[in-house]
Amino acid sequence: MKKLLVTGGAGFIGSNFIQYILDKQQDLVLLLDLDLLTYAGNLENLEPVKDDPRYRFVKGDIRDKTLVEKLFAEYDFDTVVHFAAESHVDRSILEPEVFLTTNIIGTQTLLDAAKRHWNLDPDNKHSREYRPGVRYLQVSTDEVYGALGKTGMFTETTPLAPNSPYSASKTGADLIVRAYHQTYGLPVNITRCSNNYGPYQFPEKLIPLMIHNARQDKPLPVYGDGMQIRDWLHVKDHCSAIATVLEKGKTGEVYNIGGNNEKANIEIVRLILEALGKPESLITYVQDRPGHDRRYAIDNTKITTELGWAPAYTFEEGIKETIRWYLDHPGWVERVTSGAYQRYYQEMYQQQ
Ligand code: NAD
Ligand code: TYD
Repeated sequence: MKKLLVTGGAGFIGSNFIQYILDKQQDLVLLLDLDLLTYAGNLENLEPVKDDPRYRFVKGDIRDKTLVEKLFAEYDFDTVVHFAAESHVDRSILEPEVFLTTNIIGTQTLLDAAKRHWNLDPDNKHSREYRPGVRYLQVSTDEVYGALGKTGMFTETTPLAPNSPYSASKTGADLIVRAYHQTYGLPVNITRCSNNYGPYQFPEKLIPLMIHNARQDKPLPVYGDGMQIRDWLHVKDHCSAIATVLEKGKTGEVYNIGGNNEKANIEIVRLILEALGKPESLITYVQDRPGHDRRYAIDNTKITTELGWAPAYTFEEGIKETIRWYLDHPGWVERVTSGAYQRYYQEMYQQQ
């Protein structure tokens, strides 16, 4: 991997990944970040790398075919890591359309450009020969598998059964990635990770939202009974897993990523309150999310045994460090929650 296109690198996981890979991958000569800078994209997340001579930023839309083509022609990428997406379930319930265009059409636009630039005989529909060393990695989610009952875990062969407009759009994207591999032989991987936590996460998601509200003594809105279960992984462990798949993943394979760390939402909320020394009276049970998935849990056997990946963080140290990060960066939180965020928060939680 010498010339890497990262999409959505100004978002939560993308910005952590860019910092991680520039640090670890010394033979990288170019990393181009293509990001539309939606409400979720923030260039401040990339301050630590902005002066790295290997790093470039382009503000643009993954759905813009002309731009994507131009970037491939100009920079001659050999690797794509595709993070850019509309990523929030609650927003997908309010406004599904943009999830379909960004998450599905945006993915297809990137796949098409990769196929055209990497295939050795791009005008021949039967050609399955590609330049050596090229790879397209689709960053997907465990939510494509739907919801679990009290027992069981998602494996890579669990049937896809998404329940929200967000997860349905991510599933659509996964299926088009699979089709480009099956039909055209494009060298792809799909990774499906569980819920991430860590620095730079937009405070619409559970952990940063609860820290943000608790700090200001505002109500902590817990959906339904708060007993929904998510399988939490530190974002840096997600980044190391993606790097492992880029290095050792078998072409065409799907890899689940998770750290065996299931927690009920209410446990997380209580832990945050305790860490901040705030009272449990801030917890406010609100109406449940429509179609709310009850439980997610990742079986990580394939990536741990076949590729030798393992998470480095325990949840206890990771969450402590994460809470500290948000407390130490009040300016970051304030800037990303000004303006449009205020309107979103009102619309989202006004009827509760
Ligand atoms: P995020 O919402 O924080 O960031 C998304 C980024 O994509 C933003 O910088 C945004 O500006 C950019 N973007 C959105 N639409 C774009 C477009 N049309 N063109 C170019 N850029 C665009 O998301 P995240 O939490 O960092 O998630 C990144 C990826 O990881 C997503 O594909 C998501 O589905 C997946 N994922 C997330 C989690 C999680 O817990 N957050 C878990 C598993 C998988
Ligand atoms: P979220 O961070 O939105 O991630 P996802 O829906 O992709 O898993 O939510 C994590 C869990 O927290 C989910 O079960 C919904 C719940 N939740 C609340 O109870 N209250 C909130 O205000 C938010 C944002 C989430």
